[in-house]
Amino acid sequence: MIEVLSLSKNFGEKTVLRDITFSVAPSTMTFLLGPNGAGKTTLIRLLCGLLEPTSGSFKIAGIDSSRIADIKRVVGVVLPGERNLYWKLTGEENLEFFGSLYGLWGRKLAVRIAEIVELTGIEEFYRTPVERYSTGMRQRLSLARALLHEPKVLLMDEPTSGMDPIAKNQMEKLLSKLARNGVTLLVSTHDMPQVERLADQVLIIDAGRIVAQGSPAQLIAEMGQKALIRFVLDGPPDEVVDVISRQQLGPVDVLEGEVRLWSSSPDETIGDLFAILRQTSTRLLRIEVTKPGLDGVFWRATGRYWEFDRGGQE
Ligand SMILES: Nc1ncnc2c1ncn2[C@@H]1O[C@H](COP(=O)(O)OP(=O)(O)OP(=O)(O)O)[C@@H](O)[C@H]1O
Ligand SMILES: [Mg+2]
Repeated sequence: MIEVLSLSKNFGEKTVLRDITFSVAPSTMTFLLGPNGAGKTTLIRLLCGLLEPTSGSFKIAGIDSSRIADIKRVVGVVLPGERNLYWKLTGEENLEFFGSLYGLWGRKLAVRIAEIVELTGIEEFYRTPVERYSTGMRQRLSLARALLHEPKVLLMDEPTSGMDPIAKNQMEKLLSKLARNGVTLLVSTHDMPQVERLADQVLIIDAGRIVAQGSPAQLIAEMGQKALIRFVLDGPPDEVVDVISRQQLGPVDVLEGEVRLWSSSPDETIGDLFAILRQTSTRLLRIEVTKPGLDGVFWRATGRYWEFDRGGQE
């Protein structure tokens, strides 16, 4: 449904996206994940025709990027910020106005609005002025607006940013429902657990390049690690980390005093680790064993930590 071939984008001297190639199967959800400035928004803006590629091309629903006006007819876009809604108007009036821009009117428009109101679950508030909406309500109305012309493909930039867990959960359910109804979704997010929950495919983007691509389960399995052991000692961990490295227990690193040790056979590794701690007479303050996730994939792909690079922005 989406095919992107060697797409690159420069702003002046600066290359922001390089050689991006991927495809998205119909009726599936693909997530773009990457630190601030990775190029996610730029990619979305390219695919909906708000920016022109420096080189490369793409096809959406079989339509080549040289025919961007035709692409716009089959693509819905939700970008952050509320400039795409009129604040003084109600949700319903907004939908009527934007529907008329798509050439919908009369009964056809009324029927479409009723469908979308139900689909997006905005019944409770769509007759109040947008200026009274919360972030989550505005995001859902923006989505409703993007669905007016029944797009086959939906491009969304951080649709759950700033939402509380309840609103986020509602939005996630809505995205799943859209995919089940045949819409193909490409969504950017900073929310790694969300990607692990929903994605058929994830593209991890770092500094304008795709550094990992596949289903979350596939990427995590490819790492070949069954557990992530995180622990904190009562003193500097350098000596223990040295011994772990020498004995080759598994890939190991230290982040802000916390040791992270990856293991392909956790039972054995934990046994070895406790033996090392006894030898070095170091005391354990905290230890946690978790399943490896996409943050591990990011670390293995870039040598850097996801939490560290994000700059703390949600
Ligand atoms: N119009 C522009 N002119 C020059 N540079 C730009 C422009 N738009 C984006 N950039 C640069 O392109 C890079 C990628 O930006 P982009 O907004 O695509 O990142 P992002 O992955 O969406 O980040 P975030 O997670 O913060 O939303 C950044 O370095 C940004 O400064
Ligand atoms: Mg962005």
